Amino acid sequence: MTNSTPLIAVRDLEVDYAGVRAVQGLSLYASRGEIVALVGANGAGKSTLLRAISGIVRAASGAIAFEGENIASFEPHTIVRRGISHVPEGRRVFATATVRDNLLLGAYVMRDRAERERRLAAALATFPRLQERLDQRASTLSGGEQQMLAIARGTMSAPKLLMLDEPSLGIAPLVIPAIYAGIREIARSGTTVLLVEQNVREALAIADRGYVLQTGRVVAEGTGADLAGDPLVQKAFLGL
Ligand SMILES: Nc1ncnc2c1ncn2[C@@H]1O[C@H](COP(=O)(O)OP(=O)(O)OP(=O)(O)O)[C@@H](O)[C@H]1O
Ligand SMILES: [Mg+2]
Repeated sequence: MTNSTPLIAVRDLEVDYAGVRAVQGLSLYASRGEIVALVGANGAGKSTLLRAISGIVRAASGAIAFEGENIASFEPHTIVRRGISHVPEGRRVFATATVRDNLLLGAYVMRDRAERERRLAAALATFPRLQERLDQRASTLSGGEQQMLAIARGTMSAPKLLMLDEPSLGIAPLVIPAIYAGIREIARSGTTVLLVEQNVREALAIADRGYVLQTGRVVAEGTGADLAGDPLVQKAFLGL
């Protein structure tokens, strides 16, 4: 594998739910350290794509090459160990556990205690608000802070690829910049980010590249700036 090989490349992916096709012939890639936005209307197949990459749903056909290896038939726990972390929709945190314990649970794949502590320090540097709340139960955090916690927990396994499903959904607008700043920071440290968002304007603003999905297919792709300037994207998603 050379440096120019994308970290992840999805080719001709098809995913069905009980005979209904949710993803059809979808191809995309992400390189190391890139933020790649996936946008599209409800039901476009964004979450299904993330679930297929993390092995929660099976591809009917197609390939998912991660560091050059097809992982499409791997078990979810193997995929996590290879370096893919998935933060699903809905900021699921362990409500009665402390912020610290929620974070450490994200590092369960790491045997080395010192390494877990280093990851914890990095996660807290990314989301400083969590530092002040380390010993509080997660249930006492605001929605935005819980989302920070869910994302930070996703980084605790030192993933090469972090997949975020609608991190700004239902979050108070005032807190969204802190969440996006954290996502930028994560990418700056070398982690590739696949960012699924309904918040198309913000997502394209921080993305290096993006894809527009419609009924399980890619209908447009380009740099974040190109897509934000695309008349079809503006009409469909930006209200212009
Ligand atoms: N568990 C499921 N069983 C059956 N069909 C499903 C299931 N999950 C999703 N679908 C269908 O698959 C298609 C893609 O859904 P998916 O959730 O991937 O879209 P999405 O782009 O994430 O949408 P949203 O923006 O609403 O989150 C939709 O038609 C949806 O109804
Ligand atoms: Mg979804």
